[in-house]
Amino acid sequence: MSELANYQQWVTQATEEPEHYWRNAAEAISWDRQADTILDDADKPFYRWFAGAELNTCFNAVDRHVIDGYGEQDAIIYDSPVTGTKQKITYLQLQQQVASLAGAMASAGVTKGDRVVIYMPMIPQTLVAMLACARLGAIHSVVFGGFAAPELATRIDDAKPKLVLSASCGIEPNRLIPYKPLLDEAIELSTHKPDHTIIYQRQQLEAELQVERDLDWLTACEQAQPHDCVSVKATDPLYILYTSGTTGQPKGVVRDNGGHAVALAWSMKHIYNVNPGDVFWAASDVGWVVGHSYICYGPLINRCTTIVFEGKPIGTPDAGTFWRIISEYQVKSFFTAPTAFRAIRGCDPDGDFIKQYDISCLSALYLAGERCDPATLTWAQEQLQIPVVDHWWQTETGWPMAANLIGACPVPIKAGSPARAVPGFNIEIVDSAGEPVVKGESGMIVVKLPLPPGTLPTLWQNNQRYYDAYLSQVEGYYLTGDAGYIDSDDYLWVMNRIDDVINVAGHRLSTGRIEEVLSEHASIAEAAVIGVNDELKGELPLGLVVLSSDNELSQDEVSKELIALVREHIGAVAAFKHVVVVDKLPKTRSGKILRATMKKIANGDTYKVPATIEDETVLAQIADVLATA
Ligand code: COA
Ligand code: AMP
Repeated sequence: MSELANYQQWVTQATEEPEHYWRNAAEAISWDRQADTILDDADKPFYRWFAGAELNTCFNAVDRHVIDGYGEQDAIIYDSPVTGTKQKITYLQLQQQVASLAGAMASAGVTKGDRVVIYMPMIPQTLVAMLACARLGAIHSVVFGGFAAPELATRIDDAKPKLVLSASCGIEPNRLIPYKPLLDEAIELSTHKPDHTIIYQRQQLEAELQVERDLDWLTACEQAQPHDCVSVKATDPLYILYTSGTTGQPKGVVRDNGGHAVALAWSMKHIYNVNPGDVFWAASDVGWVVGHSYICYGPLINRCTTIVFEGKPIGTPDAGTFWRIISEYQVKSFFTAPTAFRAIRGCDPDGDFIKQYDISCLSALYLAGERCDPATLTWAQEQLQIPVVDHWWQTETGWPMAANLIGACPVPIKAGSPARAVPGFNIEIVDSAGEPVVKGESGMIVVKLPLPPGTLPTLWQNNQRYYDAYLSQVEGYYLTGDAGYIDSDDYLWVMNRIDDVINVAGHRLSTGRIEEVLSEHASIAEAAVIGVNDELKGELPLGLVVLSSDNELSQDEVSKELIALVREHIGAVAAFKHVVVVDKLPKTRSGKILRATMKKIANGDTYKVPATIEDETVLAQIADVLATA
């Protein structure tokens, strides 16, 4: 059968007989109780997969491999050029560490359904922390280390954790990040107070512990009784992961246990083309969804060896780091963000570092997290001489919606497109009225409900916000927030966001949140933030501000203070470094700021003056200011 026919057959099965299709896929998972209903649609448009089933995700990721005789296989390889550390952890060692930490957490009062916030750097203990939560049936919420204390506090207040797991510090190439003072500040700022914290002390910087509230990780684990896996419902939450939306309040994306395990097992084989025993590497951070799905759970559920990398694609120590790791640990499939490749290409345009290593073990490179410009993809393909797979997904979906199924039925690569819809995701393009457009025409990218297993069932304790943000605009469809088109070969082209979310170095940020922070400054009357194209990071935030009438600071002083304020409130990850002072912001007659038009002007794209504009001269002034900025 041709690859295309093969693909069509899968799509037909997943679309017409989803229950049969996903029941088969569920055989990859060890269940404590089988499902009563594969797809529970009793509460449309909210769907639940594997209703009635019970399992434990940690058991599937760790214990069953030990029981099956693979205890001596490496589960995690930790490679940290920033500390000069290399360490291998077998499945048996991982099981022992996870069981001990779960025991320590249980002693601290954590039980099934409790929330636990994890604020940690890229060290193996972070995976141990996630798995220990899964083992207890507790719901983890990992917060990316690059976020500042107020962002952590917002997440603590929403998730209301009983416990926070953290480390004494993170390590960036140019500085130590003392996590503990940030955590203390966040707990000070939050209304909800966790009962305890458990702190992993790193030798680079020891943290001061507060008697009674803060527990030392190693001591707590030594004193604990190892805890066994607790069976949970397939529909119980495994984790909450906060992501940026249009407003400043992040959305708590919920991931269930059962559908998640099934979807990840399926994707490891069919998309990422790895078998049990293979080495798989996603060079991302566990603070993002890529880290959840493909540093922690996916590879471990599939009994692969996963790599925890604490470093950067360049500068730790050089642009050859990725190739050294791939060669040293015999990585078969490798996943990273296009930004990382742009950084490497910038330092090593002729691929001299690549030639220094034998990377013949590598069968494919996977890029996602932001739009992959064709030049980067083509460069990677020429240098590596292997398939370079652009694939498209988001925090909400948890695994790829569109991809080249390299492990099942590969199709020719078109640079700039993440290929076709993954079976189970019925992707369509609609216009602003929700009507289907003709093939080749651009519009909003939507996915017909029900979404497949592994995707978000809802937002944390907020069904209404889930409905309003994703399901209400086009009845019967999930709104992805992206725009693009489908070509005559059924390839999807994802071109831009339809909302005010921007993507900086593969990190998803809310311009609305940055605007909130700017507006807090006494010198600011009004602010708008837009994403402007950047050769390295894809996009960078640019603040356009109107000064208040009583401002006494110079424009330079205001800019410096605003940049510091965003860093203090959101974190260094926002990469907010550019402010432009303007007299007025362009608006529609109803008062809506014309961010999309300003973005086009800043990027040098052609733009139309909206018919609803309040004052055309304001837009002309903005164009002048941006041209000289
Ligand atoms: N903890 C604390 N601070 C962090 C952090 C963390 N975990 N991660 C990043 N930061 C800080 C950085 O130190 C930097 O601070 P600075 O402004 O003082 O320099 C800022 O946040 C921005 O970080 P980053 O986006 O990493 O930019 P960079 O300029 O340091 O490095 C690249 C540029 C290209 C090397 C880097 O962006 C990169 O590796 N990108 C790949 C993206 C990726 O993997 N995305 C994951 C989604 S799939
Ligand atoms: P996140 O939730 O942080 O993973 O960000 C998801 C968003 O990143 C998507 O909605 C897209 O806007 C963008 N994105 C991710 N992967 C791709 C891709 N392959 N092509 C284009 N955009 C992408």
